[in-house]
Amino acid sequence: MAGQVKSRQRVTDFGEVFTNEREVNAMLDLVKQETERIESRFLEPACGNGNFIAEVLRRKLAVVRSRYRRSPGEYQRYAFLAVSSIYGVEIQPDNAQECRERLYDIVEKDARSAIKGAVELAFLDAVRYALEKNILCGDALTLKDANGEPITFAEWSLVTGDLVKRRDFLLSELLEGNVEKGGQASLFGEANALWEFDEETQAYIPAAIREYPPTDYREVSRVG
Ligand SMILES: C[S@@+](CC[C@H](N)C(=O)[O-])C[C@H]1O[C@@H](n2cnc3c(N)ncnc32)[C@H](O)[C@@H]1O
Repeated sequence: MAGQVKSRQRVTDFGEVFTNEREVNAMLDLVKQETERIESRFLEPACGNGNFIAEVLRRKLAVVRSRYRRSPGEYQRYAFLAVSSIYGVEIQPDNAQECRERLYDIVEKDARSAIKGAVELAFLDAVRYALEKNILCGDALTLKDANGEPITFAEWSLVTGDLVKRRDFLLSELLEGNVEKGGQASLFGEANALWEFDEETQAYIPAAIREYPPTDYREVSRVG
């Protein structure tokens, strides 16, 4: 159990027992293809200090590195996409912070070994900003953040070139699934319904609560 428990009290209070590397890898191998898809979205609702999402990030970055290490611009754009599609919720602030720093260190180290001196400060700042938005300290049962506000996650999508579009969604809406939203009555009958019909997928999807203009991904902290 060495390294898997910080204290007895934390096990009692929060069920905090960290998963070891071998189990993490065995479980992620069950969805191996997804872990190696740069833009696939992962959410871990009790992420601890990030054992699962750190490994997902490592796997995605291995793909980014093998495809784009000869082009620093592309490497950084896709590395941003890889990290900004990973999400976590953790109730203990120290774990949430540890998790953010761990993911940041993985990206920085990978970038410095892949594209060496070409790593841009603005890229690293953007990674840090996305991690602040994506790895939240909150309660995955009540879906409230540490301030008691509903947990909101940012979706980051590459639009074209270096432009990224951010849209914010309520976690409660994302988790609800669209099964019960199939009937028009439940969608349009509610005054505050946050769902819309997506023609492309022919399914009801949550509507964003906020949208931002497409922005160079290196400037997301300025614009959102
Ligand atoms: C069993 S540990 C697993 C941690 C990590 N997923 C891993 O596998 O190493 C459970 C984690 O969930 C956190 N946790 C407990 N209750 C939670 C809640 N209601 N919302 C979010 N996180 C919670 C604990 O602080 C702990 O870090």
